[in-house]
Amino acid sequence: MRFGILTSGGDSPGLNAAIRGVTKTLYRRMPDAEMVGIIGGYTGLLEKQYREMKPEDFYGIMNLGGTILRTTRQPFKSMRDEEEPGLAKIDKIVANARELGLDCVIALGGNGTHKTANLLAQHGLKVVALPKTIDNDIWGTDETFGFHTATELGVEVVDRIYTTAASHSRVIVVEIMGNKFGWLALAVGLGSGAEVIVLPEIPYNIDKISETIFRRAERGRSYSVVIVAEGAYSVAEAGIKAKERVARRQSLGFSAVSAKLAKEIQEATGIESRAMVPGHYLRGGAPSAYDRILTTQFGTYAANLICEGSFGTTVAKKDGKITHNPLAEVAGKTKPIPPDHPFIQAARSTGVSFAD
Ligand code: F6P
Repeated sequence: MRFGILTSGGDSPGLNAAIRGVTKTLYRRMPDAEMVGIIGGYTGLLEKQYREMKPEDFYGIMNLGGTILRTTRQPFKSMRDEEEPGLAKIDKIVANARELGLDCVIALGGNGTHKTANLLAQHGLKVVALPKTIDNDIWGTDETFGFHTATELGVEVVDRIYTTAASHSRVIVVEIMGNKFGWLALAVGLGSGAEVIVLPEIPYNIDKISETIFRRAERGRSYSVVIVAEGAYSVAEAGIKAKERVARRQSLGFSAVSAKLAKEIQEATGIESRAMVPGHYLRGGAPSAYDRILTTQFGTYAANLICEGSFGTTVAKKDGKITHNPLAEVAGKTKPIPPDHPFIQAARSTGVSFAD
């Protein structure tokens, strides 16, 4: 069989480990397997950026950050746009995959990647996907690879922020990526022992944050750390669409929700407050040991799906077991944090405020 493998969307630690897991297993299960590296995600299929790979191309990449195949964003909503007169993007991608003689496309990516992978399957291509994102927001799987490493990196950042907040008796607001949902912010907040965790799933009330900070100060802890998810917003902003929220914040001079929240906290408490955004730091570098194990499990499972002829599927981890879901079930679904999630329950039990 001749495989096309691609990585699409925001990169994450573990992509190369996942590539390694699936290709090494396929080479062992199918000694005559041909591997074509699609360069730059779906854009590579669109623009015929390919590389015939050899088994040795996948050696020694388990602990390598980023992706050896590079990646881009090809928004799903543009897939039906005309790439050429009378030819939609998706049709050009399918035609190029066929021209390349691909028997199967292996797609590593997040929600957008899964939606396009499902569209490719609907257009008759054999597709298997692996769930990648530091956001951990893919429906149907408890875990995506990259999430564990990003959590480790985020907790490491907050541990360091605590020492400088303590030195200066400040409140420092740390903004954590995660797109529309708060999974990564919740994990980093719980893992770092933050006093306040602000999630998109729970619009924040500044008075509740102030109460928590004052209560800490009364107990002699004159500093606090607040974790805010990049998609979070206040109760007052709850009725406003995301684009409008960002525009309003920018008109007030705020580049990010953390800057706005730090100013609001300082005004409400009188305590000097600062904001910091680790941003893409949480996507960089080598994967954690946990993610190397998870990606190897995902990769070998994906290879077995292919050997069993189970296409139009994506790998998942549910209740501790590696399994899979139909792409058609995953595509387009979202995965907000349930209000009674065990992480939220544990945080609340230790007195963490969710600003509600
Ligand atoms: O999906 C991963 C992610 O890091 C999100 O958490 C974040 O909102 C987005 O990608 C940033 O996108 P870009 O890397 O294109 O700036």
